[in-house]
Parts: sequence; C-alpha cells; structure tokens
Amino acid sequence: FQEPQPLNLKDYIREVPDFPKPGILFYDISTLIRSAEAWQVATGRLARIISAWQPDLLAGIESRGFLTAAPLAQRLGCGFTMLRKPGKLPGETISLKYGLEYGEDELHIQADAIKPGQRVVVLDDLLATGGTLAASIDLLRKVGAEVVGASVLIELAGLKGRDKLDVPLNSLITYE
Ligand code: PRP
Ligand code: MG
Repeated sequence: FQEPQPLNLKDYIREVPDFPKPGILFYDISTLIRSAEAWQVATGRLARIISAWQPDLLAGIESRGFLTAAPLAQRLGCGFTMLRKPGKLPGETISLKYGLEYGEDELHIQADAIKPGQRVVVLDDLLATGGTLAASIDLLRKVGAEVVGASVLIELAGLKGRDKLDVPLNSLITYE
C-alpha cells in the first residue's frame, strides 16, 4: 500500500479534556479509525514495522488492542490471540495481576494459546506508565511465547513507560 501523501496521524487524534475524570486529557483514536484513509496509512505503517520482527502470532490487549492486532494478523498471515479481562475466556486460563495508578487489574490468556517458542508481538492502543504492556509481556512468557516486540498507536513519552519494557517498542504517535 503506497501512502497517497504524507499524512500526520496526530491530526486524526481527538484530544478530550477531563475524560474519563477531571484533569485527564484523553487521546481518542475513534477519529483515526473512522477515517478510511488515515486508518489505511496507520495500519500500513504498523505492518511494515511489525513484519520486520517476523512474528508467528499477534497478541491484542482488550479491548482497543484488538483493533490493531486483528487486521494486522490477517494482513501479515499470522495468528491472533487475545489477552482479556477476568471472566471472558473459556477453558483453562493463565493470569497475571498488575498495578494501576489506583488499585490493580488482571489479564488472562488461554493456557494453550501459544505453541512453545512462537514469536509473538503484543499490541495495545496506548502506552502510558507501561504497566499493562509489561504485564502482558510477562503473561505471554508464562505460556511459552518468545515476545519479539510491542507496538502501540500512541505513546505518552513523558511517563517513561518504554523503560519498563525489555523488548523493542514501536509507537506511531508520540506525545510528551
Ligand atoms: C488504557 C489503555 C492501555 C493502558 C495503558 O487501558 O488502553 O491498555 O490504559 O496504561 P499503562 O501504560 O499505564 O498501563 P485501561 O486500563 O484504561 O482499560 P481499557 O483499555 O479497558 O479502557
Ligand atoms: Mg487498555
């Protein structure tokens, strides 16, 4: 896919003040994915970077990570697997709890989701503190994955989430 003209993806992110609570500036990808042209460009750029890591499987983090991981997996000829919140996946699951700014959260994966040594790239919409992505990488390793990279649409660089990760990280859009 050739990019028609250089396109600044930031122009397609809507900034919503005080969402979901006062003082938080929310970067909304709805306005990016509803533009056919911008979404083509974004997924094209992701495909180029992620294919270089030669993954066997893409893992998407519920829920907005599914939006990028599923179409890319199809485009790259990889499988796709889901990292989900508790109580969503049938069968035996392996889970990991991780800390949030307030409280904690938990992600699950099906115990048989990964064949030993499969090369996996994990995707989410946004990197903030890095807690979610770091936990996802740990969880994937628990079920035998070789995690070869991580990818997000948006990175909040000032929070230094990148420093929590021990795999290459790609982000398409960066805010300080
Ligand atoms: C948001 C976002 C990332 C995570 C990033 O998810 O979708 O998954 O925060 O933050 P971190 O780098 O500080 O871990 P959230 O936990 O708000 O849940 P949601 O995706 O279900 O909305
Ligand atoms: Mg999330």
